[in-house]
Amino acid sequence: MILAIVIPLLVLFAMAMLFAALRRRDSRFATGKLSRETKARDKSAAVATADAADAPATSEALVATSADVEQEAAIVWRGSDVEVVEGEVVVTDWQPPDPDAIGVSRRQFLNRSIVGFMGLGLTGFGAAVLGFLWPPFVTGFGAVINAGNIDDIKKQIQDNNGFLKVSEGRMWITEYPASSIDKAREVYTSDELAGMEQGVIALFWKCPHLGCTVPECVSSQWFECPCHGSQYNRVGEKRGGPAPRGMDRFKMSINSNGELLVDTGTIIPGPPVGTNTTGQEAEGPNCLGQASH
Ligand code: FES
Repeated sequence: MILAIVIPLLVLFAMAMLFAALRRRDSRFATGKLSRETKARDKSAAVATADAADAPATSEALVATSADVEQEAAIVWRGSDVEVVEGEVVVTDWQPPDPDAIGVSRRQFLNRSIVGFMGLGLTGFGAAVLGFLWPPFVTGFGAVINAGNIDDIKKQIQDNNGFLKVSEGRMWITEYPASSIDKAREVYTSDELAGMEQGVIALFWKCPHLGCTVPECVSSQWFECPCHGSQYNRVGEKRGGPAPRGMDRFKMSINSNGELLVDTGTIIPGPPVGTNTTGQEAEGPNCLGQASH
């Protein structure tokens, strides 16, 4: 909201500065006005000078601008006062003026400096605005993570005792049993089913109770949170403890190469308490004691 007001104001200010820098300074109005006392002083001095030189003696003559001089020169040039040169006229080839001889006037230098700095400032400002508005290039958590080929993932899960930890995405990937997929279709969304139908599920490792990182329990083949004792089966469905729902999970998709893409920027809330699509009981001793259903 503030940017929407500030940016147009800055652009208007920059345009006004640019216009002021480019405007001619030697116009009639650029000289300003003389005070009455100054005019009177100039007039008396001019009268004295005119008496001596028999020249026009007005205050306007003394405050003539370079534009007036140019105008007078143009009138003289067009008038009959042009001196006609008699005799043979020798025409020489045009030679470009020597830039070193011409040099740069102080006014030109200042004008160019102002325009240059104005251009630099506007360029920097534009780059800053673009940088602010450009969508950030996100990697790691928050981005879409390619977890690899589905078959490779399943092998890694088995090699790691049923749980694959992907720290880059703050997630656990476990296997979802094919025998439970019909039940899963009644509970889960298509964003979750895309991976589950291929036999895997990506779970956010943050406990939905108060945010602790939930570790796996290899002996029970569940997830068991050490902070307050919440327990979840291997696919993140709540089995005990104070958590208000099952473990949150990520949107999944499979690309044309058969690789699992996990969108860690899209967190799907875990299933409600009581959801138990796999019916998996603890397969050994719990790490935190028995589940309190
Ligand atoms: S934070 Fe996990 S049970 Fe409380």
